[in-house]
Amino acid sequence: MSGTQTKVVAFNGSARKGGNTSILLRYVLKELENEGIETELIEMSGARIHGCLSCRECSKKRDRRCSQTGDMGNAYIEKMENADAILLGSPTYVADISPEIKALIDRACLVSKANGGMFRHKVGAAVVAVRRAGAIHAFDALNHFFLISEMIVPGSSYWNIGIGREIGDVEKDAEAIETMKTLGQNMAWLLKKIEN
Ligand SMILES: Cc1cc2nc3c(=O)[nH]c(=O)nc-3n(C[C@H](O)[C@H](O)[C@H](O)COP(=O)(O)O)c2cc1C
Repeated sequence: MSGTQTKVVAFNGSARKGGNTSILLRYVLKELENEGIETELIEMSGARIHGCLSCRECSKKRDRRCSQTGDMGNAYIEKMENADAILLGSPTYVADISPEIKALIDRACLVSKANGGMFRHKVGAAVVAVRRAGAIHAFDALNHFFLISEMIVPGSSYWNIGIGREIGDVEKDAEAIETMKTLGQNMAWLLKKIEN
């Protein structure tokens, strides 16, 4: 865990900064902030991040970082390492997650494994925006990262999915907004239990 102040880092893997995924994430973060938890939202839009090279250098070096240094990968992995909880948000792209967030979880997963489980017992949750279909597959893909990383995943009153096409459409999905708020409250509850 991090130092004294509980911290949550959220990644928005969408190509659209401030879009529907970002809106959903911010509803979750607001609830955490209401409980005195520090939050940070990272918009990955426009960021350079390459996929895993399968070079296995992380297993040889075991320096808690990826061997690729020319992009944002290690800065993001450091943010994840320093947080108590990781929130991953993705739009649904062809019934899957965005390539940027996929690149991040692939690299973070291997680096974590190479270093004995860097994210063990951190809290993790996924949020997905979708126009029509494919969100559950994207949601599952993000959750696979938490579960293989020995992280603890809180639930909500529904799966954490919001429906919308144009930026802001998710605001009209009242059930999604409630689901995000409940997720934030449940994350805060869990973080406080772990802290104590
Ligand atoms: C490349 C691309 C692929 C998409 N694929 C799907 C899809 O498979 N299913 C769907 O319902 N919506 C799909 N969409 C629509 C987005 O998921 C939807 O507009 C979402 O709200 C975008 O979130 P954002 O505002 O955070 O970018 C796609 C959009 C893009 C740009």
